[in-house]
Amino acid sequence: MCYAIPAKIIAINGMTATVDYFGEERKVLIDVDDLKINDYIYAQGGVFVRKIPQDEALEILKTWKEVFFELKKTDAALAKIDQDKLSPNALAVLQKINLRKSLTKPEMLALLELNDPQELKVLYEIANNVRQREHGNSSCVHGIIEFSNYCSNNCYYCGIRKEREIPRYRMQIDEIIAAAKHASENYGFKALVLQSGEDFWYDDEKLVQIVKAVRKLGVLVFVSLGLRTKETYKKLYAAGARAALLRFETSNAELFAKIRPGTTLEDRVQLIKDLKEIGYVIATGFIIGLPGETNQDIINNILLARYFAPDMYSFGPLIQASDTPFATLPSVAKDLVLKTIAITRFVDSNSNILVTTALETLDANAKREALLAGANSLMINITPKDYRHLYQIYNNKVNANLEIENAIDDSVKLLYALGRAPTDIGVKNC
Ligand code: 5AD
Ligand code: SF4
Repeated sequence: MCYAIPAKIIAINGMTATVDYFGEERKVLIDVDDLKINDYIYAQGGVFVRKIPQDEALEILKTWKEVFFELKKTDAALAKIDQDKLSPNALAVLQKINLRKSLTKPEMLALLELNDPQELKVLYEIANNVRQREHGNSSCVHGIIEFSNYCSNNCYYCGIRKEREIPRYRMQIDEIIAAAKHASENYGFKALVLQSGEDFWYDDEKLVQIVKAVRKLGVLVFVSLGLRTKETYKKLYAAGARAALLRFETSNAELFAKIRPGTTLEDRVQLIKDLKEIGYVIATGFIIGLPGETNQDIINNILLARYFAPDMYSFGPLIQASDTPFATLPSVAKDLVLKTIAITRFVDSNSNILVTTALETLDANAKREALLAGANSLMINITPKDYRHLYQIYNNKVNANLEIENAIDDSVKLLYALGRAPTDIGVKNC
């Protein structure tokens, strides 16, 4: 199975290559010096992953070509807008978006406060239209391996917080590498996220060993390890990791200090800046629905995320986790998350926006709705089944017991039904 389409290099300019996917151009960062024009490569997250022999690439492209143009037609049909049903105020804001003008904060807030079902429908349609305008029908699909549920932190919202008494697991280095190899060789993943709680049993040496081995498989290595030192992240970059996922959780410093005891927003923000400085492609975001959070906070969250110019936005609703201080909070409204996705698409139209597992957990139909409200990326959980159900950061996490093959099948079927092709979508502004 294939989750990324081979791209042909049509120009090289220093560390950036321009590649072609069936007539669409994308930019890709390259960190090797043996690439030349007309080479075929896989790229993920706008980063070069590996070269593909020409005959193999042409064979794959041949099977893709027909499907690709069929998918594009479906996507274009779904990206139409019905503007009749809008109030004059909402229409004015949305027209601004169509004209590619920046929204003011009050305008963003006004969109977040829309509630009329007809207006919401049009809001999502416009976000989907902007997504399509910027990315065509590209979508990216990453695999995630949750390799340890030990954590030294006690975040109030999290089901694997240190104080909670739950069965813990820690995958051994060779198990992690074997899971990554399986994902790459058997399922064709080109980007793998390695995630854990803040588990310092994995010291720098072990992490470097893991990253090196996974990178050697010819995939983009995405690390999601929480608060580690800049030095550690530098070593991991040198070992071949190129992307890092680190949410700041909330832009409200007071709220942050309450829900993540012993840590500060300032340190978190500094670490994200450090990651950028090291050269990582960044995925960041926040939780929606923390107690005491206002709509203004959500807009500030979007803007703080935007400040980091991330390659990918990752935000989702707070889901109750038993036996935590936030176990009994009310559920977050699905539309609040969909509105946040749509506004993020307007604020940073060229970005990748992930449909998170938390959103899927909130509502079975949400994945589809999010992909039609501005989102364009998916992550598939490929943690070995023996461990997957133990990484319960919140209750009833979806796909905890699903076979990996079925999870992949579900996602690919959904993408195809929406006319999306898993071309990689390139880096911004380079
Ligand atoms: N609900 C939603 N998201 C959660 N996370 C942790 N606990 C929860 C929860 N109860 C998110 C955090 C963290 C990511 C790995 O999981 O945002 O960064
Ligand atoms: Fe640990 Fe992350 Fe959960 Fe906080 S959110 S307790 S750092 S796994």
